[in-house]
Amino acid sequence: MNVLVIGSGAREHALCRSLSLDPAVTALHCAPGNAGIAEVAELHRVDALDGSAVAALAQELDAQLVVVGPEAPLVAGVADAVRAAGIPVFGPSGQAAQLEGSKAFAKDVMAGAGVPTARSYVCTTTEEVAEALDAFGAPYVVKDDGLAAGKGVVVTSDLDVAKAHAAACIGTPPAASSAASSGSSSAASEQRGRVVVEEYLDGPEVSLFAITDGETVVPLQPAQDFKRALDDDEGPNTGGMGAYSPLPWADPKLVDEVLQTVLQPTVDEMRRRGTPFSGLLYAGLAITSRGVRVIEFNARFGDPETQVVLARLRTPLAGVLLAAANGTLADLEPLRWSDDAAVTVVVASHNYPGTPRTGDPITGLDEVAAEDAPHAYVLHAGTKRAGDTIVSAGGRVLSVTATGTDLTQARERAYEAVGRIGLDGSQHRTDIAAKAAAGA
Ligand code: AMP
Ligand code: GLY
Repeated sequence: MNVLVIGSGAREHALCRSLSLDPAVTALHCAPGNAGIAEVAELHRVDALDGSAVAALAQELDAQLVVVGPEAPLVAGVADAVRAAGIPVFGPSGQAAQLEGSKAFAKDVMAGAGVPTARSYVCTTTEEVAEALDAFGAPYVVKDDGLAAGKGVVVTSDLDVAKAHAAACIGTPPAASSAASSGSSSAASEQRGRVVVEEYLDGPEVSLFAITDGETVVPLQPAQDFKRALDDDEGPNTGGMGAYSPLPWADPKLVDEVLQTVLQPTVDEMRRRGTPFSGLLYAGLAITSRGVRVIEFNARFGDPETQVVLARLRTPLAGVLLAAANGTLADLEPLRWSDDAAVTVVVASHNYPGTPRTGDPITGLDEVAAEDAPHAYVLHAGTKRAGDTIVSAGGRVLSVTATGTDLTQARERAYEAVGRIGLDGSQHRTDIAAKAAAGA
């Protein structure tokens, strides 16, 4: 099978790594990719937001499967363009991707499907925002309606900070939704300036992914992400600074419960609305004292959770993704999982999640490959080649991933590998999976 992966983060490197280990994959392509992905796939240039360009590339490469990694191309309708060209694609249509592209739309679907989530108001004026904040009280949760790369959410006990964020969301259309609206999607332009104010959910967070063809839903193993920039969950929200799987503290019935109460009802509701969702449905959950609640949906694999989930998946990946693309998931054998634990630690540039410093040389990659493989390996995110060296090219630069018989061993291996990496001014959290490994 000839496979083309769209994207350039550590998630796409993880996808490409798993696909490259699948004997069914005879040729692996990635666009635009990064310096690490170049080691397992042939890279191509493409504007990932341009559906016709992606479809043309897939045709030129004779791809039998296209896997769209990030949310922005999905919301922009890239999967629709590839599907229209007759090529199987893993990823939802632009309309179905609104589950991630608009938080207000996601709330509406959840209401229709009876899925438990935080109570919320969708506001378009500062007066409505003030009323909603007052109704829920502190801590305040204010969310940009549109895509914001994990940075559109503010959780704060400071009323002024909550109001200022809401005002900014109402006043400035988010960059990603203006990209989507250039594709003449009226749904995208209607979302401008909306903000969701919702009740605060207290409790540990779980990311649960499910592969679906629009009808059958196959959950993957749960993972936990670390969203805040600094140790002890301090600092601003980021795209994610690390992850681990499995979750020794979670109820073994959690996956089944979420399948019954969240994933299947959502997929059924999307089909009922005439916008079936196929691809990867990501449920971000809070395990509250009153039960499981959905914090958000994403329409694609999570980053960095994918790095740990795929590290544990034993079933070859290509066949699973192709079955979702072709609508044949009901015939798939049950997925096989390793008993190993996996941990990933994100190494980020100076100043991330603010505007990051880029262009710094990265050292130590060869040592990790020589000393730590196969248990630990480096997945690249924002990297590029500059002559003989690999340099930083984004906020999240590397996702250092390791497996072990338990979380303690996986953690030790991941941090040992992180210790070999040199990147001027870089930052990483030192407490990824620490509490879970200690049994807390
Ligand atoms: P989201 O982009 O919706 O996943 O939000 C990013 C992060 O903000 C989540 O992972 C949570 O840590 C936090 N968050 C979002 N919504 C809530 C909520 N209702 N209650 C508490 N924390 C939240
Ligand atoms: N790790 C959070 C996300 O992928 O949205």
